[in-house]
Amino acid sequence: MSELQIGVFDSGLGGLTAVRELMQILPGENLVYFGDTARVPYGTRSRDTIRTFALQDLRFLLEQDLKAVLVACGTVSSVALPDLQGMTDIPVVGVVQPTAAAACNATKNKKIGILGTSATVKSGSYQAAIAEIDPEITVTATACPLFVPLVENGYLEGQITELAAMEYIKPLQDAGVDTVILGCTHYPLLKPVLSKLFGDGVTLIDSGREAALALAEILRREGKLSQKSEGKRRYFVSDEVSNFSNIAGMFLERSIDGQVEKVTIRTDD
Ligand code: DGL
Repeated sequence: MSELQIGVFDSGLGGLTAVRELMQILPGENLVYFGDTARVPYGTRSRDTIRTFALQDLRFLLEQDLKAVLVACGTVSSVALPDLQGMTDIPVVGVVQPTAAAACNATKNKKIGILGTSATVKSGSYQAAIAEIDPEITVTATACPLFVPLVENGYLEGQITELAAMEYIKPLQDAGVDTVILGCTHYPLLKPVLSKLFGDGVTLIDSGREAALALAEILRREGKLSQKSEGKRRYFVSDEVSNFSNIAGMFLERSIDGQVEKVTIRTDD
């Protein structure tokens, strides 16, 4: 069991926010990551397209020896989680439920903001998960379609990113939220900008981190944790390796050169 890997996937770089967390809390685990960089972004596409892409991504990952899967994408978790769970008997954990639970726990004034992709906000997934936990909480949600391309192109800080962020967070500020769900796993890469603009009174909830914590808890409960001290990590992308390696290395604060491979996944059905 201990040699099995945890599979993590996203449309691109965003799922690395979950990988960074997994490396911290479960350093002995072998991780295999897939970023569908040839088809990013997912969040501006239709539900059917997102579901099709997600099933193909998971089919690729399931060819590796896995003990669990982290769907490190708010968009995919919002529209396709039950379909993905139906493909395998191993645990498949999404970001929505654990992140909503953490936000409900954090809010003091019962006003939560959600930043997500267009598909995520339209799906109402976070809104439904929050309402189930505490129906008295009011929610303000904004779609932020420019954030994923900004992150994928390395614009993690600077004027362009700040201008986009100011526009997107305004409705949340006007609503007086004290807690904001970064409902897309790309957005924690923009945390320096978002923290600065929101200021101290607002707690930012990182969906990659919350999902990683939830997955760790499941593996612990099921007695499936690795006993090793340092796990192996492999990264697969569907497009150019160098762009991913550079930004990923910056974010993970370690070089991943030599661990990233370009693959062509099956896209027939
Ligand atoms: N990281 C994905 C998410 O959490 C980004 C989706 C996209 O590619 O637009 O929603």
